[in-house]
Amino acid sequence: MWIQRLGMKSKKRCNDLRVLPALMKSLNELQQDYLDLYLDGASRPPKVGEVLDFDWEGVWREMEKLVTDKLVRDIGVCNFTVKKLNKLLDIAQIMPSVYQMEMHPGWRNEKMFEACKKNSIHVTVYSPLGSREIDLIHHPVVERVARKVNKSAGKVLVRWAIQRGTSTIPKSDHSERIKENLKVFSWGIPKHDFQALCDIPDQARVLDGEELFVNKTDGPYRSVADIWNHEV
Ligand SMILES: NC(=O)c1ccc[n+]([C@@H]2O[C@H](COP(=O)([O-])OP(=O)(O)OC[C@H]3O[C@@H](n4cnc5c(N)ncnc54)[C@H](OP(=O)(O)O)[C@@H]3O)[C@@H](O)[C@H]2O)c1
Repeated sequence: MWIQRLGMKSKKRCNDLRVLPALMKSLNELQQDYLDLYLDGASRPPKVGEVLDFDWEGVWREMEKLVTDKLVRDIGVCNFTVKKLNKLLDIAQIMPSVYQMEMHPGWRNEKMFEACKKNSIHVTVYSPLGSREIDLIHHPVVERVARKVNKSAGKVLVRWAIQRGTSTIPKSDHSERIKENLKVFSWGIPKHDFQALCDIPDQARVLDGEELFVNKTDGPYRSVADIWNHEV
């Protein structure tokens, strides 16, 4: 699996409507001629007034062609719902290997996580530290577990994601933190404390897509709930 070694991966951005040109752009930027993993990142229908109709089945066929043309080894998706994933699995000739989604103790995303496990799709977690938008680092439960295991809160959050069976992509602009966030493989969070992180009651997405996708008067997404097919 690509995660087990240093893999080259990239993601089709949501305003890239066609797959091959977007992949070529990524290959060019990375100065590579092949990727281990390519993700379809939150494809969205064009805004009202744009000419093309969004064709997600067509997008997946183009993703599959990247594999058959040996431009990438694995393909995956981001930010789907269970409903969208099931539709994709119905038509897929090549299964998504990886699903990337927001996940941390403040948004455990259980339903989607279970759907991935059921279909043997590896989960990669983004925003494992809660992103820049919420302060999970100073959440009392996170701080308590960090004190108990004698590790930083950042490490506890990254370790929580790993211990949950996912891979994760924490981000930092500081080299010391980048190094620190990698030191999560030689120790574990005790079962009871792991469970306490899994029991934090207040659950909310940080990246809900409102700014990017919601048009309250027109188009398919009139609200954040529409984007996520009203799945909680
Ligand atoms: N597929 C998608 O739709 C999607 C959506 C969102 C994000 N992503 C990707 O996911 C990755 C991470 O997500 P993210 O940046 O939203 O959130 P994140 O990794 O959860 O959080 C980043 C924030 O945490 C801070 N931080 C990092 N390490 C820390 C530590 N050890 N202790 C305390 N604070 C720490 C960073 O500050 P400093 O920089 O100051 O260290 C930054 O403010 C990015 O590569 C992003 O591109 C993907």
